[in-house]
Amino acid sequence: MEVIVKKDYEQMSRLAAQMIADVVRENPRCVLGLATGSTPLGTYKELIRMHKKEGLDFSQAASFNLDEYVGVKPTHKQSYWYFMYHNLFRHINIPLENVHVPDGTAADVEAHCAWYDDEIERWGGIDIQILGIGGNGHIAFNEPGTAVFSRTNWVALDKRTIEDNARFFKRKSDVPRFAITMGIGTILEARRVVLLANKASKAEAIAATVEGPITAIVPASALQLHPNCTIITDRAAAGKLKRKYGSTPRKLPKVRKKK
Ligand code: PGA
Repeated sequence: MEVIVKKDYEQMSRLAAQMIADVVRENPRCVLGLATGSTPLGTYKELIRMHKKEGLDFSQAASFNLDEYVGVKPTHKQSYWYFMYHNLFRHINIPLENVHVPDGTAADVEAHCAWYDDEIERWGGIDIQILGIGGNGHIAFNEPGTAVFSRTNWVALDKRTIEDNARFFKRKSDVPRFAITMGIGTILEARRVVLLANKASKAEAIAATVEGPITAIVPASALQLHPNCTIITDRAAAGKLKRKYGSTPRKLPKVRKKK
């Protein structure tokens, strides 16, 4: 697990966007794993800027989102489809037929979850998965207690998550109680994982994820098992880490060719 501590949210977002852009440039037919929430908004803004100003081309890319509320239509302002469309998809040239967000209105939710995992495989797997983290250590909607090798499934939301998300709804009672989420096992199959965290409210979860044991009680700690996982935080979210970490990605020094 590589940990990178940036000065602030802007620098964290810029680095994450750069990592995604590198994947898109290297393989225009790449599959992106995307997240909702306030954390990746800066990253998406930077990707939009790169698309508009630098010609970053998503015309052959595909994407899979992590999760969606059950019972919420894509047209609902708090649906994750709506969030993705308005904060990213409509501003870049990714074909909408290539983007996937779990369908919260699926008639057979379990069949839809199984289909979602199969569909990721059919598209060749996720090249780079972006994640936020909950204050309780969740990734996507995998709440504390979720099995490390879980597959995409429907879940009941944790009390803390409902409280955290109440700010987006008129009343706390409007927050959906169930969601469809990519499983932790599904996430661990991505070729590369980048988890972003800013603000002091994430400091405890980040310390437990990076320096604690792998435990179902801290779902993000399962990322310690991933061979290519980078955690990027701002200084506040790194506030409870005991060890010191670098602020730039690890890179092998260039080997000079012998003449
Ligand atoms: P946030 O949510 O980005 O809005 O903090 C992250 C999460 O709960 O996974």
